[in-house]
Amino acid sequence: MSKAPAFLCLPYTRGQAALTEPLNAAIIAVMAAEQKPVNILGIETSCDETAAAVVADGRQIRSSVVASQNKLHEKYGGVVPEIASRAHIENIYPVITEAMAQAGIGKDDLDAIAVASQPGLTIALVVGITAAKTLSFMWGKPLIAINHLHAHLQSAMLSEERLELPAVALIVSGGHTSLYEANSPLDLRLLGSTMDDAAGEAFDKVATILKLPYPGGPNIERIARNGNPKAIRFPHPMLGRDSLDFSFSGVKTAVLYYCRGQDMKGENRIDSMSEQEIADIAASFQAAVTDVLVKKTKRAADKIGARTVLLGGGVAANGALREAMQRMCEKSRPPRRMLVAPKPYCTDNAVMVASLAYYKYKAGLFAPLMLEASANG
Ligand code: KG4
Ligand code: ZN
Repeated sequence: MSKAPAFLCLPYTRGQAALTEPLNAAIIAVMAAEQKPVNILGIETSCDETAAAVVADGRQIRSSVVASQNKLHEKYGGVVPEIASRAHIENIYPVITEAMAQAGIGKDDLDAIAVASQPGLTIALVVGITAAKTLSFMWGKPLIAINHLHAHLQSAMLSEERLELPAVALIVSGGHTSLYEANSPLDLRLLGSTMDDAAGEAFDKVATILKLPYPGGPNIERIARNGNPKAIRFPHPMLGRDSLDFSFSGVKTAVLYYCRGQDMKGENRIDSMSEQEIADIAASFQAAVTDVLVKKTKRAADKIGARTVLLGGGVAANGALREAMQRMCEKSRPPRRMLVAPKPYCTDNAVMVASLAYYKYKAGLFAPLMLEASANG
């Protein structure tokens, strides 16, 4: 049977969804009967990584290319949106070309183009969206819009299709700290989120206070290995008995006061501190954040009776967090299964975009060519 032309799949808008989604699902079912793998090109430009990947059937990673901009943002101690956007414009074409070459496929082997369209820096997102729309139009492939946070969650499910439900998912990144009830890759219910600084943001800001290079998270983790996590008692904000929300700005401020004095009039003592003292601050800060993340995840898991805990996002690369979450899952009665994103797919990448897009593809959930970026998600 010849392949159904991809342009038959219709983009959906709110008003048309009832008509187009069942039709698209029927077209996809006919195509699935051919038993060819579904190859999706994923594109990710929501913050400071330009990434493209080809994933077959949602799990087989055929290529993954990530152009990091860390060097460009390092001297500013954080991501500068204008610089990020310009770098995406320079990188997007070579990154997509390389992803297609590494996958060893041509445009005719692709079934869809997926792109992260929210949340993120709008002027960064538009670069990936423009590339995806252009390819979708030129190559006649359906366009799939992906929520970046939901994609982070999907990277925790890369190794496992069938989850023992219900599952609770913690996404910890530079911009977000969110807890979800996850019933499938497309069925997520937000349980709690950050009220101020996200966990990764707190890592990055504390790294700046400790005069460590950007991005702060991996550097805090590195020096914390030589520190005593019990040396300093920083706050462990739990926000009341039942809260599933997070607040890390107080922990960050406590580190600042520790280094500069309560009135902030003193010198930053960092320059005169020993390596051991700085390592103790890093380890104690990391312990405070990790403790809150694990306790809140347990609270959410207890509340919904979760059998599985999913962990994803840049901060999920942190070894102390992975170990503490694993211990919590093992100690739970009955024990819970923990699924965590493989380290290369914790920080921003396009594998997670292409992987999640497979489920939207199967459900016939396509985006219009008018797709726009949204900073919120
Ligand atoms: O998911 P991600 O790549 O980008 C966003 O969607 O924000 O996450 C980046 C964040 C940064 O704040 C970075 O410092 C943090 O993840 N991060 C870490 C580690 N690796 C990256 N935080 C703690 N420990 C790590 N090993
Ligand atoms: Zn991210």
